[in-house]
Amino acid sequence: MASSNLSKRIQAMLKYEDKLIMPPSGGVLSADEFDCSSNKDGVINMSISENRLVFDLLREKMQKCTVQPETWADDMFMYSELGGVPELKEAIAKYLRVTTRAVMPVDPTKMAVLNGADSGLEAFGHIICDAGEAVLVPAPYYYGIHRSLKVRFDVDVFPIPLSSEPKSGETKPFELTVERAEQAYKKATQEGIVVKGLFLVNPNNPLGDVYSRQLVLDLLKFANRHDLHVVLDEVYMNCIFEEGVDHYSIFQFKEDEIPDLQKVHFIWTFSKDLAMGGMRISVNYTWNKDVLQSLNGIAHFHSVPTGWQNMMAKLLSDTDWCTDVFLPTSVKRLKEAFDHFTAGLKQLGVPFHGGPAGLYLWADFSKFLSAPTAEAEIEFHHKLIKAGVEFSPSLLCRGSERGWFRVVFARKLNILELALERIQRALQS
Ligand SMILES: Cc1ncc(COP(=O)(O)O)c(C=O)c1O
Repeated sequence: MASSNLSKRIQAMLKYEDKLIMPPSGGVLSADEFDCSSNKDGVINMSISENRLVFDLLREKMQKCTVQPETWADDMFMYSELGGVPELKEAIAKYLRVTTRAVMPVDPTKMAVLNGADSGLEAFGHIICDAGEAVLVPAPYYYGIHRSLKVRFDVDVFPIPLSSEPKSGETKPFELTVERAEQAYKKATQEGIVVKGLFLVNPNNPLGDVYSRQLVLDLLKFANRHDLHVVLDEVYMNCIFEEGVDHYSIFQFKEDEIPDLQKVHFIWTFSKDLAMGGMRISVNYTWNKDVLQSLNGIAHFHSVPTGWQNMMAKLLSDTDWCTDVFLPTSVKRLKEAFDHFTAGLKQLGVPFHGGPAGLYLWADFSKFLSAPTAEAEIEFHHKLIKAGVEFSPSLLCRGSERGWFRVVFARKLNILELALERIQRALQS
């Protein structure tokens, strides 16, 4: 990479993105993306975690929420509260109260709205850690965590490695336990790394697991023992597509059950539950006044356009539409897509870890690798792209086992069919 006399910070960022086989400088779309009318030979993107099954519902609803020009009020052109307009924060609070079945109050004055959950992750990393310090994250993990923390503020992720082979005392593959968290913390401190936080994604990306109430509580206690902040990323809370599975949001705990609420923070976004990644709206919630003030300061650089906030407030405040129409249809379609795609994977002999939540599953292509190495995983990744499908390799998600890929299945059934054909072609080549 030529330096062109750029800052060391930016050279480190460019090098980092090269290393991780990321699309150039934060982009998410491939140049040759499949489109069923304009680019049938393009690559089917199954790497972006996006629910593409519900745009019809959104289109219909948006038509009713879009503000007509004659009603454009002056304040839509003006600077607004950069941490979010009160109407939007109130609408988000209402949505969270209902969908999390909140026991704790959900208070709009404890929120800062930013442009996306990635900005929230970055903001919390920046607020909690100095450069060179670290947070613990169960691995494999959503690769954006690393990007958000590392790229601009040089905060490290120290993995809590999970394994496809349960250890003694564990009951399932990739199980997160307090023991594993303790071991990772110990290892980091032995290596001289200062650990300041624990970031938990629940429901988990890329594994699709949902944590039990007891586990959430035990991890909060673990964090408290080591004086760590906990950031709960619950962006997939309403993407649970198997029936009878309970999600225990932080709002479902009583305040006095949580060891130190001042060190607990929460993130939610429009991108996953509501399938609107392009809107770039997240809510970042904290019980800590200093953290809130910092988030509002950071919001200066990461705010959402006022007009969009007003429209989204209108959409979200129709809680009945969210809970009775949109979310049930969304999870029904996710379940159909999951069942369809996993039936195909089974036929191809590809094991997977997936469900009950998320837009993706964690598929095990290890037996198709030429060797259990990073090079072979990248080689297989390229083979898939050549066959016309793209997934996220384990390397990118910092998984410790080679040959696993995160595959996003929230795509229309005909596209999943085509993807399965292309996967088969890659496996046979
Ligand atoms: C766990 C998790 N957190 C945060 C994000 C970022 O979401 P946003 O689009 O709101 O930046 C993603 C996106 O894939 C995610 O999977």
